[in-house]
Amino acid sequence: MTERKALLLEIDAATRLGLLSFLRLRGYQCVVVSSAGQALDVLADTSFSFTLVDLNSNGSDAAELLQCLKLHAKNSGPIIAVADRRDRGLDGVLLDVETVLHKPPSLEELQQAIDALARPEPEALGPAPELMGGRMRREMELWRSPKMLEARRILSEAARVDVTVLITGETGTGKDLVARAIHQFSSRRTGPFVKVNCAAMPRELLESEMFGYERGAFTGAHKLKIGKFEAADRGTIFLDEIGDLHPALQAKLLHVLQDGEFSRIGGKSTLSVDVRVLAATNQDLERAVAEGRFRADLYYRLNVIQVFVPPLRERVLEIPLLADYFVERYAKLYRRNGFAIPSSVMDRLMRHRYPGNVRELENLIKRMIVLDDPSLTKIPLPDDGVDSERSPSSAVEPSLKEIARRASQAAEREAIAKMLERTGWNRVRAARALRISYRALLYKIKDARLDGERSSARSAS
Ligand SMILES: Nc1ncnc2c1ncn2[C@@H]1O[C@H](COP(=O)(O)OP(=O)(O)OP(=O)(O)O)[C@@H](O)[C@H]1O
Ligand SMILES: [Mg+2]
Repeated sequence: MTERKALLLEIDAATRLGLLSFLRLRGYQCVVVSSAGQALDVLADTSFSFTLVDLNSNGSDAAELLQCLKLHAKNSGPIIAVADRRDRGLDGVLLDVETVLHKPPSLEELQQAIDALARPEPEALGPAPELMGGRMRREMELWRSPKMLEARRILSEAARVDVTVLITGETGTGKDLVARAIHQFSSRRTGPFVKVNCAAMPRELLESEMFGYERGAFTGAHKLKIGKFEAADRGTIFLDEIGDLHPALQAKLLHVLQDGEFSRIGGKSTLSVDVRVLAATNQDLERAVAEGRFRADLYYRLNVIQVFVPPLRERVLEIPLLADYFVERYAKLYRRNGFAIPSSVMDRLMRHRYPGNVRELENLIKRMIVLDDPSLTKIPLPDDGVDSERSPSSAVEPSLKEIARRASQAAEREAIAKMLERTGWNRVRAARALRISYRALLYKIKDARLDGERSSARSAS
């Protein structure tokens, strides 16, 4: 088993001793640092189970501290922030943090937070756990609109037969949930569910993630690595963002789909696996095929059954259900007991168009809870033209902080767009030039919806 490590950042001396012995007793090796700079040094080559940061201790800028940690999100693990409940200046920056504890946290609260984070990601789970089944079932119960019930009917049918399923729909509609549901409803439910994000890494890395490599296959291949296809044997592999799959890997995947066979990188023998393939995309794959970006033969292999997940604006009746669900979940997490959304605000939520779909609604509710703004007075809902009943006088002027935030977001978006254009959308090079991690760049591209621009630029040219 790998050693469990915890990074403690700017924890004041008074809390530190008790905390250290508490974590050591629970088997954590702790690294204590006192500044963002030191944290960056440590995070460059060590990865942690989680990072605990005190945001009020000695005056460092909380937003800056969190930004540093986010740049190394892969190594920092989830972040537990300890913050002073009265410090309203922190509200905005806490949105990106997995867990917030109010100062001073009791050891019991810490224990709960750590236990919650220690739960493995669904993709890392082997046999289907009841725990995840419970949450999944609950979330699927929120699918009530006719279009979503239709999607559910198709996915239940598809789950029964061992065919490839293509899950389509805009970003944030719930394609991940659909994929996990198909696995759970299938006879493979006791086997592994393995997810691969086809857009998250450069081609070479993705190839070794998917197919593994033999020892000595290339410099640095010190030992044999099992790929995700092998790990998914007798289970399901979920290829997310399939539209971004590199052409060379499209060919290799086609071969696996045709023959169920592949070889590890540098391997001489072929391996055969018993895997059900699910793929998801928020791109128009037919257009990608027409434009020569995606192999037609692979598209037909993947698209045996298609489950289309409709956008949230076509599932309006689910909005209040989802909102209540997120309130319940996040009010508990952010300790705002009794938080409730008034019905007039719920009406506004139902009229909003949600280009970011369920993810956008979820983030909005999170913001409302963190900012303690059940009436939506501090958070402007982008005017989408449908919301015409709101009189201009009730429109809320954004705060200076909000104006600054939007300006900095716009500047960042522009810088990223320019760099992507300059590098011909080579995201590895763009990330290097912008001096951020590849992962951070992907996140920002998605967050700023730049990928949409890329496809519209292409179709215009
Ligand atoms: N029915 C639901 N109940 C509760 N939460 C949901 C539901 N559907 C989606 N979500 C939440 O919305 C967010 C986005 O969902 P998901 O990641 O499945 O979207 P996606 O379609 O895979 O988006 P992308 O194309 O960007 O990957 C997640 O945080 C997910 O937990
Ligand atoms: Mg997804």
